[in-house]
Amino acid sequence: MKQICVVGVGYVGLVTGACFSDLGNRVVALDVNPERVENLKKGIMPIYEPGLEELVRRNVNAGRLSFTTDYAEALKNSEFVFIAVGTPSGVNGEADLQYVAAAAKSIAENMKSPLIIINKSTVPIGTGDWVADIIKREQPRPIDFAVVSCPEFLREGSAIGDFMQPHRNVIGSFDREAANKVAQLHLPLRAPIVITDLRTAEMIKYASNAFLATKISFINEIAEICEAYGADVKEVAAGMGYDARIGRHFLDAGLGWGGSCFPKDVLALAYMAEEKGLDPRILNVVTDVNYDRRKAIVRWTEELLDGALKGKTIGLLGLAFKPNTDDMRDAPSMDIAQELSNAGATVRGYDPVAMDVAALLLPAVQMFKNPYEMAKDCDALIVVTEWNEFKQLDLEKVKGLLKTPVIMDARNIYDPATVRAMGFKYRAIGR
Ligand code: NAD
Ligand code: UGA
Repeated sequence: MKQICVVGVGYVGLVTGACFSDLGNRVVALDVNPERVENLKKGIMPIYEPGLEELVRRNVNAGRLSFTTDYAEALKNSEFVFIAVGTPSGVNGEADLQYVAAAAKSIAENMKSPLIIINKSTVPIGTGDWVADIIKREQPRPIDFAVVSCPEFLREGSAIGDFMQPHRNVIGSFDREAANKVAQLHLPLRAPIVITDLRTAEMIKYASNAFLATKISFINEIAEICEAYGADVKEVAAGMGYDARIGRHFLDAGLGWGGSCFPKDVLALAYMAEEKGLDPRILNVVTDVNYDRRKAIVRWTEELLDGALKGKTIGLLGLAFKPNTDDMRDAPSMDIAQELSNAGATVRGYDPVAMDVAALLLPAVQMFKNPYEMAKDCDALIVVTEWNEFKQLDLEKVKGLLKTPVIMDARNIYDPATVRAMGFKYRAIGR
C-alpha cells in the first residue's frame, strides 16, 4: 500500500484518486474548492461519470480514500502527489498554467518529506522543468523531490474503464529512480509502460490528442465528399477501419469534436509550434474544419426547412459534448443554439444528464423533461449528442408530435432509408 495525494478532484483527479485507492493504495484527494470537498465527504459527486459514485463510496468506506482542502494534511505521509488541475485555454490559445503554478507552490510550501511530484494535467512541453523550479524556489527549506510527467488518456463517459485498462501508461522524468517508482504504481494495470524523458512524455499527450482530433476532422471532410458523390461515410469508415494501419476508432463523422480537451489541446500545440517560429498548418486546418461543422449543421437544418429559420422552433436532442457525461465545455450545442437564436429561431433542449448545467449556460434555451415533450410542435429536431436513449426513440410518435417531420441527424444515429420511408425530411452526415 502506497500513500498518494491527488491535487484537483475534477474529471481526472477524482477518477485517478478513486482508481488508485481501488487498487489498494491510500489516497488523499485535495481540492481548493471547499464545496466540492464537502460534497464528496457526503458522497455527492461533482461530475456525472458512470460508475464513479459507487467506486468512490466503496473506497471511502474501506478507509482508503479521503478528501480535504488542507495541503499539509494531504501531503503528510504521501510519497506521491499527482497534479490534476485544469489547464484551460488562455487568450491566445496557449495553455493557462495558473492552476498548475498555484498547486506547485502549495505543494512546495507544505511538503515535509521527500516527494515524487507527478504531472497528470495536460501541460506544455517544458512545464515539468518549470514546476521543478517553482518547487525549489517556494520550499521553505530544501527537501528532496522529483518531477515526473504521467499524462492521462482517459475519456469522459468511460473514464474508469479507460483508467483501469489503459492502452499504455507514459512516464517521463530525468530521475530514473522516480520514474521506476511511478511505473511500479501502474504495474497492476498490466498495460505497456513507456518510460521516457519529461519533455517527450508531455509531447506524447499533445500529439495523441491532436492526432485523434485530426482523424475526426479528416473523416468529416471525407463525409462531405461522400455526400456530394452519393457514398456512405459510415461504410467508408468501416471499410477503412479494417486496415490495422488506419483503425476504426475516431472515424465517426458528425458534428466534430468539442469538450474540454481536443479544442484547447490542438490550440495549445499550435501555439507552442508558433512560439518556436514554426507554421503548424495541419493543426490550424484541423481546428478550422472542426468548427465549420457547427455552422454547417445550422445551414443544413435551414435547408431542410426550405430556407427559413426565423420563427421556427427547433429541438436539440442532447446538449453535452458527448454521451455519458454532463460536461458542457465547448459543447457544439452551445454554438448551434446561439446560431439558431441569431437566425430568429426558438430553441428547445433536452439532455438526459447535462440539462441542469446546460440551463445555466444557455438561459435562452427552453429545457424539457423528455424528448417527446420537447418535440411537441417543433418544426425540426437536431440530433446533437448520440445518447443511447435517442437511438430507440419512438419515431412514429415523434412524427405525430412535430409540426413538420424534419430531422437533422448530426450524429448519424438513424438509418436514412428507414427514417425517410416513415415520411421524415431527413439529413444525415455523409450518407
Ligand atoms: P476539472 O476542471 O474537471 O478539475 C480541476 C480541479 O482542480 C477542480 O476541481 C479545481 O477546483 C481544482 N483546482 C484548481 N486549482 C487548484 C489548486 N491550486 N489546488 C487544488 N485543486 C485545484 O479538470 P479536468 O477535466 O479533470 O482536467 C484536469 C487536467 O487533466 C487538464 O489538464 C486536462 O487537460 C487533463 N485531462 C483531462 C481529461 C478529461 O477527460 N477531462 C482527460 C485527460 C487529461
Ligand atoms: C479525449 C481523448 O479521447 C482522451 O484520450 C483524452 O484523455 C481526453 O480527450 C483529454 O485529453 O482530455 P474526451 O474529450 O473525453 O477524450 O472524449 P472523446 O471520446 O475523445 O470525444 C471527443 C470529441 O470528439 C467529442 O466531441 C466526440 O463527439 C467527438 N468524436 C469522437 C467524434 O466526433 N467522432 C469520433 O469518432 C470520436
